[in-house]
Amino acid sequence: MSYEFYKLLHLLCILGLCCGLGGMAILALLGGAEGEHKQLRKVLMIVHGVALLVIFVAGFGMMARKGIGIGASNTGWPPWIFGKFGIWMAFGALAAFVKRKAGLATHIFWIVPLLGAIAAYLAIMHPGAPGG
Ligand code: HEM
Repeated sequence: MSYEFYKLLHLLCILGLCCGLGGMAILALLGGAEGEHKQLRKVLMIVHGVALLVIFVAGFGMMARKGIGIGASNTGWPPWIFGKFGIWMAFGALAAFVKRKAGLATHIFWIVPLLGAIAAYLAIMHPGAPGG
């Protein structure tokens, strides 16, 4: 698969991830009895999980196509990839937080865009990488 195809998958699933977390936040804010919206919660968790998995696979696919962290000249992962990995894990943890702490749900609407913007900055500017 080409670098461009991986990037398309990466971006598509970033949008899916945002939809999943946004939907979970709305359900948390709506509150309601335990078990209410059970089917919808399940669908949102699946969207969130699949999106995270594909973001990960497509991210490593792009790394492979760009020779980042692999091959003879391998100098290991550049710092910006570690940053992205950390943000990816934060997106994973956010779903559990929203489920348990409904009070956090309102903050999702600025935390998610902020984390996404930092990840995009890392992916475009490659801070700390030799030669940028
Ligand atoms: C394990 C997690 C991740 C890995 C390994 C990864 C890796 C990558 C790589 C290698 C690129 C291409 C960079 C280049 O062309 O120089 C990229 C692009 C991008 N990534 Fe990720 N990524 C991850 C998670 C994320 C997350 C969670 C987000 C945001 C929510 C994100 C947002 C982006 C964006 C917006 C681009 C496109 C930047 C451009 O237009 O050049 N990534 N990612």
